[in-house]
Amino acid sequence: MIKCNNVLEQARDLSEFIFERWRDILPAGDFVLGDDVSRFETWMSQRCMGAYAISMNSGTDALLLALRALGIGPGHEVITCSNTFVATVGAIVAVGARPILADVGDDELINVDTVAPLFTERTRAVIPVHLRGRPVDMDSMLTLCRAHGVAVVEDCAQAIGTTINGKQVGTSSDAAAFSLHPLKTFGGLGDGGILVTTNPEIAAYARRARNHGLQTRDESIVFGINSRLDSLQAAALNIKAPYLDRWLRRRREIAAFYDLALAETATGTDLGGGKPGSSYYHYVVKSAKRDGLQRHLAKYGIQAAVHYPVPIHRQQAWLRSQPPIALPTTERLSREILTIPCHHHLSDCDIEKIVVTIRSFNARYEFAPERRIPS
Ligand SMILES: Cc1ncc(COP(=O)(O)O)c(C=O)c1O
Repeated sequence: MIKCNNVLEQARDLSEFIFERWRDILPAGDFVLGDDVSRFETWMSQRCMGAYAISMNSGTDALLLALRALGIGPGHEVITCSNTFVATVGAIVAVGARPILADVGDDELINVDTVAPLFTERTRAVIPVHLRGRPVDMDSMLTLCRAHGVAVVEDCAQAIGTTINGKQVGTSSDAAAFSLHPLKTFGGLGDGGILVTTNPEIAAYARRARNHGLQTRDESIVFGINSRLDSLQAAALNIKAPYLDRWLRRRREIAAFYDLALAETATGTDLGGGKPGSSYYHYVVKSAKRDGLQRHLAKYGIQAAVHYPVPIHRQQAWLRSQPPIALPTTERLSREILTIPCHHHLSDCDIEKIVVTIRSFNARYEFAPERRIPS
């Protein structure tokens, strides 16, 4: 089976080096927030042009503490999109604010046209999600938000390696949250996350709040949470770090191949439209016969996935606590999108097979609609 993600291969590839480092950590007893964590934060800071980088134990916590650092809570509204992982909206709810969901463009990203009509006097922040590693247009989003005195927290959970004008996304706004979950382009061997900010006050708050507000072992100056990254995760990430750019290059190479090979097909190319700077965490095509295409690929040993089949505003969690809303583009896309494999463990042979299989589906079913889609 050609897998849609490379979680197992990523864990396996460098495991000997990781275990070797872990063997050094065990006798030192330096298990939480140790030297490996500091080294990892320094590496991330350097990737982000010297911004503060504060590790946590998830991308969700990084979003949560960024919102708290900005003083966002009950009575406030935060705008984001509905076609994201539930954590984006969960973090807003967790600080007691009200999530307001904007529709997206055909590139699956929120933009100023969908966000601007949602501003009210209660709006305190917008969370643009660089979904699939595609960069949201940050220049116009920041201009809009600054004009309204509204903060911007970037959800970069899927966007390590995504750039705007050659710079890592996540450094032009008030704060950004990255996920280090094993499924990500650059993941640990368990949960992890990192908050990036150029604002020293947000950085100081996040650094304290991730560790119960402790200033010394016995003095807490602000109530916080336990969101410390542990040394074993940081050590694994430090081992992987020098390979990240190579992995990103391979994702872009595969995406460029798909762009050429799928350009004239009914399925088309990535919905991001070849945005420069995309890191291709996901490569997503669209088909009116999406479920049939997914089954056809599976029949030939190719795993494709739907991210996300149920947008947040159609989830039970939303409907229990928020009024029903309609987001026409988000809903239409959720019925048509399909993520095809795009990761650095795919061989040339794999990607050729994927293209040929998609083309064979298109040839048989897209142009002969009277034919039944195989079950
Ligand atoms: C868009 C998005 N936001 C937030 C998160 C949350 O990250 P984590 O799982 O590290 O808490 C994820 C993780 O999948 C995500 O994809």
